[in-house]
Amino acid sequence: MSQRKTAGRGAAAGELRISFTLNGEPATLEVSPSERLLDILRYRLGLPGTKEGCAEGECGACTVLLDGLPVDSCLVPAYQVRGRRVETIEALDPADMAHYHARGTTQCGACTPGVVVTASWIVRHPELLETHSIRDLMAGNLCRCTGYDGIIEGVVDELEERGGSAGPGAHRS
Ligand code: FES
Ligand code: FES
Repeated sequence: MSQRKTAGRGAAAGELRISFTLNGEPATLEVSPSERLLDILRYRLGLPGTKEGCAEGECGACTVLLDGLPVDSCLVPAYQVRGRRVETIEALDPADMAHYHARGTTQCGACTPGVVVTASWIVRHPELLETHSIRDLMAGNLCRCTGYDGIIEGVVDELEERGGSAGPGAHRS
């Protein structure tokens, strides 16, 4: 069944009507120029899994995939996703979280959705590990609790479960 999301409130002056693909389903709503992608996800489209931390593009708590690439949704004007593809933590398989739970990476949990979204991107693109380390690819996601080793171990675990030999960049540090 389609889960089309429409969060209409009637276009006010200066608002733009945008349509985009959200977690594989079409979404349409009117946005003001000042609304961020993070705002519409959390407060208008019922997807609170994406967290707000610094609101300055530093912490990565708000990471989502935009056309398949990780972005800080606190920095993306909502109107810029028109015609594009957005994936949030809600689109991911909850089973994928198990790797990170098992490694003790979900302590306060503030960073966890962003970490898992970025990790999902790495796992989908193991070719990245031919030229980058996991630690470098995760550099945009800050965690004040874990010291990062468990996060990196979780990515390695998920890669290995998928049968991936990720090449020289898969080293853990
Ligand atoms: S809340 Fe977006 S980077 Fe920190
Ligand atoms: S688990 Fe607390 S910030 Fe990462």
